[in-house]
Amino acid sequence: MSNIIVAIDGPAGAGKGTITKKVGEKLNLVNIDTGAMYRCVALEMIRKNIKLEEIDKIEQILKCIEIELKEENGQQIVLLNGEEVTLAIRSKEVNEIVSQVSHIVIVRKTMVELQRKMAESKNIIMEGRDIGTNVFPNADVKIYLDATPEERAMRRYKENKEKGIDISYDKILENVKFRDNNDMTSSVAPLKRAQDAIYIDSTNMSIEEVINEIIKIINNNIK
Ligand code: DC
Repeated sequence: MSNIIVAIDGPAGAGKGTITKKVGEKLNLVNIDTGAMYRCVALEMIRKNIKLEEIDKIEQILKCIEIELKEENGQQIVLLNGEEVTLAIRSKEVNEIVSQVSHIVIVRKTMVELQRKMAESKNIIMEGRDIGTNVFPNADVKIYLDATPEERAMRRYKENKEKGIDISYDKILENVKFRDNNDMTSSVAPLKRAQDAIYIDSTNMSIEEVINEIIKIINNNIK
């Protein structure tokens, strides 16, 4: 039997990260967070002081970039050229440019190739924006995980509050809508639901409920 591929797509803040990790653990699927890969490219550009329009220099770093996603003691670890960058890729500086970086054609082409290679001969659950539409159009299971912008903004607001980060709900909502618009109207791999993806609206669902729903869908589709 060929390897199993589960694709999870959806907008920022829909809960893809948490849910994919849990479902992967429960069903023994290797979890691949493709957003972390675009974040690695953004971090490398910041470190090398490369601007978004310096395509030649970006091509150079892509030629030898090594990105590894590992699991250690139940934690997802990200290695960039051998160095652990799990936290560094979540910095404010990376957040500010990663969306634009992910829309550079050569960056996406290189990351998609890497993603396909990472999935070779493994059972995987891959999370991103274009997995079911572009990276694995023949995935065994495709899920589009959504929630209203208001709910996603509220989740981020609560998360920030727990971390002691003080940003108003209105500001976060504005940012969520801005990112949605950027992601959905991009000329390079825009965020959209694959025709054959199963749509889950998690607005009024708990994390446990979403996890159980996805596990049910996977079990029903993979015999
Ligand atoms: O999921 P995230 O916030 O870590 O993703 C970081 C950025 O990368 C975000 O701007 C969307 C983009 N991205 C993408 O364009 N395609 C993917 N498959 C995954 C992420």
